[in-house]
Amino acid sequence: MGDQEEGFAFYCFLKILLLQWKKSTNRTGKDEKVMKLEQLEKLLQDMSLEEKVGQMVQIPANMLTEGGLLTGPTDTMEMSEETTRLVGSILGKTGAEELHNIQKEFVENHPHHIPLLLMYDVINGMETIFPIPLAQGCTFSPELVERAAHAAAKEATATGLHVTFSPMLDLVRDARWGRVMESTGEDPWLNAELGRAMVRGYQGSSKVQGELLDLAKEGNIAGCVKHFAGYGAPLGGREYENVELSERTFREDYLPAYQAAIEEGCVMVMTSFNTLNRIPSSGNQWLMRKVLREEMGFDGVLISDYSAVDEMIRHGIAEDSREAAKLAILAGVDMDMVSNAYVKYLAELVRDGEVEERLVDEAVWRILKLKNDLGLFENPYKDGAKEKEEILFLCPEHRGLAREMAAKSFVLLKNDEILPLEQENAGTIALIGPYADSTEMFGAWSFPKRPEQGVTIKQGMEVRYGSVKVCRGCFMQDEDKQTKFGVKEKYTTEELETLLAEAEKLAGKSETVVLCLGEHREYTGEGASRTEIGLPKHQLELLKRVQAVNKNVVTVVFSGRPLVLTEVVELSRAVLLVWMPGTEGGSAIADVLSGAVLPEGKLSMTLPRCVGQVPVFYNKFRTGRPNEEGTTVGYIHGYIDESIYPLYPFGYGLTYTTFGYSKVSVSQEIMKKTETIAAKATVTNTGTREAVETVQMYLTDVKGSVVRPVKMLRGFKKVALKPGESRKVTFTITEDMLKFYDSNMVYTSEPGEFEVYIGPDSDTKNKAVFRLV
Ligand code: BGC
Repeated sequence: MGDQEEGFAFYCFLKILLLQWKKSTNRTGKDEKVMKLEQLEKLLQDMSLEEKVGQMVQIPANMLTEGGLLTGPTDTMEMSEETTRLVGSILGKTGAEELHNIQKEFVENHPHHIPLLLMYDVINGMETIFPIPLAQGCTFSPELVERAAHAAAKEATATGLHVTFSPMLDLVRDARWGRVMESTGEDPWLNAELGRAMVRGYQGSSKVQGELLDLAKEGNIAGCVKHFAGYGAPLGGREYENVELSERTFREDYLPAYQAAIEEGCVMVMTSFNTLNRIPSSGNQWLMRKVLREEMGFDGVLISDYSAVDEMIRHGIAEDSREAAKLAILAGVDMDMVSNAYVKYLAELVRDGEVEERLVDEAVWRILKLKNDLGLFENPYKDGAKEKEEILFLCPEHRGLAREMAAKSFVLLKNDEILPLEQENAGTIALIGPYADSTEMFGAWSFPKRPEQGVTIKQGMEVRYGSVKVCRGCFMQDEDKQTKFGVKEKYTTEELETLLAEAEKLAGKSETVVLCLGEHREYTGEGASRTEIGLPKHQLELLKRVQAVNKNVVTVVFSGRPLVLTEVVELSRAVLLVWMPGTEGGSAIADVLSGAVLPEGKLSMTLPRCVGQVPVFYNKFRTGRPNEEGTTVGYIHGYIDESIYPLYPFGYGLTYTTFGYSKVSVSQEIMKKTETIAAKATVTNTGTREAVETVQMYLTDVKGSVVRPVKMLRGFKKVALKPGESRKVTFTITEDMLKFYDSNMVYTSEPGEFEVYIGPDSDTKNKAVFRLV
């Protein structure tokens, strides 16, 4: 037996002893836990400094060979084979068999047989792809979001993963930023509710609900809140740009969603690339030690973003990798994702007395505890198994959920009495556009192994309507525009003209045209900020030419951000915004176009009229010269060349029926700080179809010691109503909902007048008034 085999055999022997001990005694779970922690402590004491530092290092999967086994030194991170064998985690590999081999190799060869943590970005699904998070935001449904996260977790753990880098809870307000697709939108309250739902879905438990963390249970995966903090506010929407936020705005608007996920029990947090008020997050002691750990109570593993530790050199706050490592450990970063800083310099910094070993021990302790919570010391492979992948990937249950969620995330922006398209009219519908028969619907963060399993609109429509006439109409990209990977579509003017002419011809002889347009999925996501956020110009040209010969145009828009759709809305009789809907996109679109399912999505981000309005969001602060008329003249808040109002406000979305709201009433006009009051309105389905309405409740603090937002979402409820049916919808208002950072930065509520609005979107004027005393 070689040394390594001997080591592994001894490790297994210990495991067996432990199992026998557990069986033979009648100990409670608590005793086992205590015993396990004692073993972990002992393990930590036994580890060399190099081993400890190793646990704090994550390497990328491209440092391994195709077969999944370790190759020795590679240039990605300038590491020797010896140091590579000590690492604590690998990022970016999937596949149960491959991950099994990698884990086995590492566990067997590690001096203490410590298993790896295997991490990946499972953002909106693993193999069954759900709508992108921005679209999930439009469902306003924590219940659906939780179910989708759990389905994703089951597929991810089946493929051998332990951690997903999700939820991304950055508040986003600038549609130019490519990563808005990864967020659930512009509202702190909605993001917090949906962030909680994702954590429950991934981790299978809720700390706030008093449930115990059981990450080891089959199907549960560890979540990682990112990107801490404020990454969603880069100046100009430019990727990796610096972030400058007042502490008040940061705390009131940006922190709540991260805080909610931590309260829910999320076990990991990731730092952000950006600087926050001039300090890069990965070296920001105030942010990580004071705000995150002390104030927000986070006690899990803090990982840096990809090479963010070393990037502090280019930020200009560290001279070299050594100093970057020091800044990061002092800030409390437990794991260095893919930079050379910790692996090369952390041990040296400890030996030179520049960093206390205690800080390293604290970090390693947290990492070991996470591994233990995941049950990896008992079973380093967790749920990973090829058979499970086969059962779970794209299983009917997950597909069904993806279809349901997609349909519920679509936002009907306009419907000039054309939708739904009844099935009797099947023969007369033309399906035109670059998205008509494309599977490019997964969004920028999804990498399914079998993308061909996605349902295109054509396929979905064929199921509903029998055969449909399809024509591409134009290319997805303009020839002078590239994706973030530099990919351009190459075509000649003649080729384009041929497609456009074909489309014109088909449109001319059809009753109705379903035009499937949108931005390329690689126009969004990381590294994909854009200054133009309209449809590609040839797609707009297609719309104009089709509309010139057929006025019955229903436009289906794909996008990963709020696009400028002003012209599209003008030229179409109906517009359905479907975002990036995922695997079942085509089926869900057919469900909604045909009226088999009614749309119910509400915008999770404001739609601008033009790019010059961006950033535009509903919960802005009041000004001294408000522009209630939307005028463009005089010394008034706004622009002289465009309305101050967006094209569609946050929370907006139609369906195939109409709803009426009664006037809001409050249970008491005076609210004491220790009490709650109720606000109510009756919602009536005033149309002819049964449908769901998302009733939204907003609050306005009429006067504060600092300027307060115009409106703040503080509740939402879904009601399903039959035609003619009414339901009273009640919201409870608590003092907590009224709190903010006052002029002395004290988090409190201030007595005075408040307005409570209940309506279909953030633009609602339906209100009642109460006073807080
Ligand atoms: C992104 C993170 C992601 C990480 C690992 C980074 O570039 O900013 O969101 O989790 O890569 O893939």
